[in-house]
Amino acid sequence: MSIPMAEDSYTFAGSERARELERLRRIEGFFDPASWRLLKASGMGPGWSCLEVGAGAGSIASWMAERVGQEGEVVAVDLDVGFMDASQLPGVRIIEGDIRRLDFHAARFDLVHARYVLIHNAHFQDLLDAMLAALKPGGRLVLEEPDFTAARGASGPDIAAFDRVNQAILAMFQAEGKDPGLGLRLPAILASRGLAIEAVENEVPLCPGGHPLSEIMSLSATQLQDKYLATGRISAEDLAGYARFAADPAAWGIYYGTVGVVARKPAKTAD
Ligand SMILES: C[S@@+](CC[C@H](N)C(=O)[O-])C[C@H]1O[C@@H](n2cnc3c(N)ncnc32)[C@H](O)[C@@H]1O
Repeated sequence: MSIPMAEDSYTFAGSERARELERLRRIEGFFDPASWRLLKASGMGPGWSCLEVGAGAGSIASWMAERVGQEGEVVAVDLDVGFMDASQLPGVRIIEGDIRRLDFHAARFDLVHARYVLIHNAHFQDLLDAMLAALKPGGRLVLEEPDFTAARGASGPDIAAFDRVNQAILAMFQAEGKDPGLGLRLPAILASRGLAIEAVENEVPLCPGGHPLSEIMSLSATQLQDKYLATGRISAEDLAGYARFAADPAAWGIYYGTVGVVARKPAKTAD
């Protein structure tokens, strides 16, 4: 698939703040346990220096700070740090900015983690450049990105609307120059950057309406409805059908998959 060039703008920029905080909290509530497993698999522990990129509401940065302890260090970066409550994040240094424009005095972190951040950047390789520059030789890069191409309905009266909205979601990302299947390509992308792949997970939950993931995607559809409609693939009635599907306990579907990767930056070769 060829991805057209486009100006980067965060997909949810401009969303109503209370609703966006609610969506971020729900993402944390459902996805944090899988992230903890992946981060533990990276070997992180007391004394590690960690960078959380696109920290959102900050729960992973907070968990990292507890795990690395007083000897360690956690830095949380986001374009918008307004969803983090610094008083609830002891041991976390919060920095507002675009990861591509921050200078971390190169190669100082043992671990760099990002979840659902690259997908929102058309020029995601530039973010990878910044993350790799921030990582020590031998350090771990832990990335988790979605695969929206996995989405499909399984059952329910509104399955046709559900599938049409899923097609609109793919079209929206493509129109913004972003890759809706980025998660699937993540291991190959990191291997091509010279990293050693240590672990890969691919979680593709099949959910009924009312499931936390169904509710997250229903919230996203409300926030992004104008962008979904602008693809020309769906009507307002399709959006209403998607909302009914996501609320119906008898309607089952896959909303997206998540690919998680632990990769190691090569150690410096002896001169
Ligand atoms: C979908 S949210 C995910 C938040 C958090 N990682 C989580 O999974 O709970 C993506 C976050 O990445 C941030 N972000 C996107 N592009 C960024 C960039 N270039 N530099 C820093 N933060 C970025 C956004 O502001 C947003 O808070």
